[in-house]
Amino acid sequence: MARTAVGALEGRRIVLGVGGSVAAYKAAIVARELMRRGAAVRVVLTAAGARFVGPALFTGLTGQAVASDLFSEGAPEHIALAAWADAAVVAPATADLLGKAAGGIADDYLTTWLLAFPGRVLFAPAMNRHMWSHPAVQRSVGVLRADGVVVLPPVYGALAATGEGEGWGRLPDPVAIVDALGAMLSANGPARRADLPAPHAPDLAGRRVVVTAGPTRERLDPVRFLSNPSSGRMGYALAEAARDRGAEVTLVSGPVQLSFPTGLTVVRVETTRQMLAAVLEALPGADVLIGAAAPADWRPAEVSPIKWKKGDGGEQRIRLVANPDILAEVGRQKGRLIVVGFAAEAGAGPEEALRKLRDKNLDLVAYNDVREPDAGFEVTTNHVILFDRAGGRQEIGPLPKRAVAERILDGVCGLL
Ligand code: CTP
Repeated sequence: MARTAVGALEGRRIVLGVGGSVAAYKAAIVARELMRRGAAVRVVLTAAGARFVGPALFTGLTGQAVASDLFSEGAPEHIALAAWADAAVVAPATADLLGKAAGGIADDYLTTWLLAFPGRVLFAPAMNRHMWSHPAVQRSVGVLRADGVVVLPPVYGALAATGEGEGWGRLPDPVAIVDALGAMLSANGPARRADLPAPHAPDLAGRRVVVTAGPTRERLDPVRFLSNPSSGRMGYALAEAARDRGAEVTLVSGPVQLSFPTGLTVVRVETTRQMLAAVLEALPGADVLIGAAAPADWRPAEVSPIKWKKGDGGEQRIRLVANPDILAEVGRQKGRLIVVGFAAEAGAGPEEALRKLRDKNLDLVAYNDVREPDAGFEVTTNHVILFDRAGGRQEIGPLPKRAVAERILDGVCGLL
């Protein structure tokens, strides 16, 4: 079940662009869901969109005039509306809108508004499956992504128009669209398009990367578990950076409080043994495994099926058994796979990272001292020393975890 980023939309001013598609009726549900989460919504309807759903529907829902014609009296002025908005979502986006936005064409209200708007934009396309897979449309999607626009791919399912059957092209569920918008806004990233980092060269295109992230949990009884404070941010940053550099990414995630990244496969697990199984399942054909998770090293020897009672308040003993070490298991027979590990230390020096490099047969290891205020668990920055097998040593940070992720991936690319 995808996590919802409810708080991210509270008080936000959102422009909802609606293109001409049978799926346009779902834009009304998107508007409702945005408002339910506390956002103020203004709708921009294209001429084609207005052939499918009328402006009265959106005026009724949002209590605001709908913008569709640049030259009509009484319509919100597009520069003023661009200054008003915090973010935009175009749902459904047509092939025509994707192409125009990618090409910088501004021949109606929505496309002109999109050029005048400096904030973050999410496109949720819906179209016939042959249109979606057409190289021209995929080119537009690539250009938009490189420009910092989030494109939420259509999903597989029954297509709205009669006779089209099933396929890729269906508009994602309105709640999933709003979740993705919330994730875009709640990410640590900048609010303005212009402040996004320059897109990285797609130097991981055609590569398959598996990343582990977050803690694992080992149950003691139905209401208690052993775990650690790993936030998952370093692993998520690595997975997103690898995705943005063109890799096909599988993110094996323990329980974390982060929004779901789009454009990669997320496998959610709870225990260390589940994490190992998910990694082994994802590895065939992979080029890189990055172990950014903090898997629990032990689990209770027995899990009580019923809740432990305090009873007389006496001593409670827990017997622990060792969990498998995921990286060590993979490292034993890794072939040409590049394996990257972290060494989260609290007291031990960098030599401990070098021991892990050897013992786990890693290619790279990132040492960090979790006691530092700007490194390790629960913070958005990290400060690491990256060691390789050839004796190379590079200090990275303190920097935002995404920037640290990029530098680690530079190291990976150097080995591939
Ligand atoms: N790791 C793993 N499986 C485990 C434990 C750790 O794959 N059961 C990985 C982590 O993802 C990290 C690396 O191994 O990349 C080192 O983890 P760390 O917690 O620093 O050390 P441990 O190997 O657990 O060793 P120790 O507890 O002795 O420091």
